[in-house]
Amino acid sequence: MIDVIYQGDRREQAVTAAIKGKHTALLYEGDCLPFIQDLPQEPLFDLIVTSPPYNIGKMYEKGKLRSREEYIAWQEEIICNLYPRLKERGSICWQVGNHVDHGAIVPIDMELGGIFERLGLRLRNRIVWTFGHGQHCQRRFSGRYEVVLWYTKSDDYIFHLDPVRVPAKYPGKRAFRGPRKGQLSGNPLGKNPSDVWEIPNVSGNHVEKTAHPCQFPVALVERLVLALTDVGGVVFDPFCGAATSGVAALLHQRRYVGCEMVPEYLEIGKQRLEDTESGAILYRPIDKPLYDPHGSSLSQVPKEWLTKTNGFLQ
Ligand SMILES: C[S@@+](CC[C@H](N)C(=O)[O-])C[C@H]1O[C@@H](n2cnc3c(N)ncnc32)[C@H](O)[C@@H]1O
Repeated sequence: MIDVIYQGDRREQAVTAAIKGKHTALLYEGDCLPFIQDLPQEPLFDLIVTSPPYNIGKMYEKGKLRSREEYIAWQEEIICNLYPRLKERGSICWQVGNHVDHGAIVPIDMELGGIFERLGLRLRNRIVWTFGHGQHCQRRFSGRYEVVLWYTKSDDYIFHLDPVRVPAKYPGKRAFRGPRKGQLSGNPLGKNPSDVWEIPNVSGNHVEKTAHPCQFPVALVERLVLALTDVGGVVFDPFCGAATSGVAALLHQRRYVGCEMVPEYLEIGKQRLEDTESGAILYRPIDKPLYDPHGSSLSQVPKEWLTKTNGFLQ
């Protein structure tokens, strides 16, 4: 069952529902901080995964831009309140990009790293998510990555590699020396996906695009859900937007709790969760090969550019 607790409803109701855990998914409309603070101080979530606002003036941030110090203090308060609600074998994944200030970039993960460290969380990977599309810059190199900071609460954390393996480059490769010489050296299920993930971002005519201005792709969260939780585990996203993390959780039989302040996004998220349950959800499969532009007619050098001086004509 998918349930939504709206602003008008009492928050206690949402909190109780989240704890009782009878839902497949629960969405809360409102500010995530008081919601988290009202949760009992006990381990509830297997995976906390989110992409917080970057303080860069997106539609949902209008009129709410904080100074750099205020932003970090706000994030710290949220992260500190999340800590006791994370299970001992659980993970917290903070997906962030760069804040841009008058053309100078401020990598948000560098700003926030100290908060997680002070709580004693262990950084397992700083995953680089790279994608092909974005703003074309004139005075610096165009930005084509964001990061996911993956922290665990303890050294005894859930990590399933097999469900997230990717095809090996040379599946038939054999050891060429040593005691295993001649034997197959790879894993039949594929290789470790590494800490650099190339996944198209949700823009233009991407199949997952909704009215939300900055969704992350389902595939990005899917890999985290599959690797860092067991079936039946609870995934929480305090800044859930269009509930992408919920789609990934439900696709793989995990349960989900999400908070979102903007009613329009909450409704989009609710619809996507319902579509996931009914099997109607549209998403880009995690193993779909990346688009290869070389075969496109748009890849040809246009005749207007064929001059002797630019080297296209000999
Ligand atoms: C970067 S977006 C997350 C997008 C999401 N990952 C997705 O795929 O749709 C951040 C979201 O946090 C919401 N938000 C901002 N402040 C919030 C708060 N205090 N509590 C809950 N949600 C908030 C914004 O409205 C926005 O939708």
